[in-house]
Amino acid sequence: MQVALLREWQAGERRVALVPEAVAKLVQLGHRVEVESGAGLEAHYPDDAYRQAGATIAPSRAALLAAADMVLGLRPPLADPEFLQQLRPGCALIGLLQPLTEAVEHFQALAERGVLSFSLDAMPRISRAQSMDVLSSMSTIAGYRAVIMAAERLGKFFPMLITAAGTIAPAQVLVLGAGVAGLQAIATAHRLGAVVRAFDTRPVVREQVESLGASFLTLEVQGEQTGEGYAQALSQTSHEEELRQLSAPVAAADVVITTALVPGQRAPILITQQMVEAMRPGSVIVDLAAEAGGNVELSRPGEVVDHGGVLILAPLNVPSQVPLPASQLFSRNLVTFIQHLLASGLSWTGDPPAAEIALEDEIVRRTAITYRGEVVSELVRPRLAGNP
Ligand code: NAI
Repeated sequence: MQVALLREWQAGERRVALVPEAVAKLVQLGHRVEVESGAGLEAHYPDDAYRQAGATIAPSRAALLAAADMVLGLRPPLADPEFLQQLRPGCALIGLLQPLTEAVEHFQALAERGVLSFSLDAMPRISRAQSMDVLSSMSTIAGYRAVIMAAERLGKFFPMLITAAGTIAPAQVLVLGAGVAGLQAIATAHRLGAVVRAFDTRPVVREQVESLGASFLTLEVQGEQTGEGYAQALSQTSHEEELRQLSAPVAAADVVITTALVPGQRAPILITQQMVEAMRPGSVIVDLAAEAGGNVELSRPGEVVDHGGVLILAPLNVPSQVPLPASQLFSRNLVTFIQHLLASGLSWTGDPPAAEIALEDEIVRRTAITYRGEVVSELVRPRLAGNP
């Protein structure tokens, strides 16, 4: 199989979908890998590192795509008509295609072009998919970075310091939303010596929060979770109750890290302007939900807001701030997914070759977006039918 690696195009994107170590693995498995020149530069992998791993560097994107059976990228440029025209009908495209938010016309165009596409952000949250789960890998990185960003901006120490001049109290950190990113934020803040408290509407996470050394806030707010383990949106009354009960712990915190998401919806507001105004000047909020609209009423995605001395950071694409481990983890997930696709029956037959996949496999079925000229993803189809 001929595999093509794309150079990312979005401003600020420093990750690459395949690091040289992963190229070597694919080559060892008998595949050919061709790379768009400069693909790994931002993650500190020059073209030579790819050559040494056994890849060739393509003379142009057109040549790269014309020869490819499988095209890999973090965020393939679906809105670029030239890219679409360069994809070979019958090829497989894998990346973060954002099935819940990307324009449906782009998926229709992929289907019409005869491209078999998979989105890694549609990976089911089941045990056997864990090693292919890029959302978890990226959330882990974001949770870690959020704490580092907060520690850098906070004009205080995180740990308690006992000095000859007396004792300095540790920072009080509050983490809202204890999914993958939140749990990593808790672990990191705890390791830095802060006193950590956390809350999530899914009561099942209490034990995980406590095992990381944090205390779980007991609020009279409890949400439902889906069979997948995701949170369901709270009713308006429960949400108002949550805000009311969070007011005191938010006001007491030096740092608040918010990570609350509900799949397919705008992120819930957990910190209102009034709650920010009750915080001590010098406190820091890091809103990791910025890409989904933010958990903080005053967040401005991609910016830092100073509201009465309280800093509100709403960073976008946080994993890209640490492109090396982010690319390494992404690559490992991706190669495991490719191996799974091939083992479960991905093959090309006929002339011109058409791809065949095993839709009865849950991982294949849930990640497949377009197949045999149609949009097959249940995440996209309701929007195709005009039900957003
Ligand atoms: P997420 O990124 O969708 O949401 C983050 C957290 O925000 C969740 O814990 C959610 O309960 C919480 N939240 C939502 N609304 C809230 C509110 N109003 N107030 C406070 N918290 C709120 O979640 P993530 O990190 O993607 O994890 C979702 C689930 O999937 C978890 O149960 C996790 O254990 C599970 N999971 C399973 C995997 C597997 O088996 N392959 C891999 C990764 C996660």
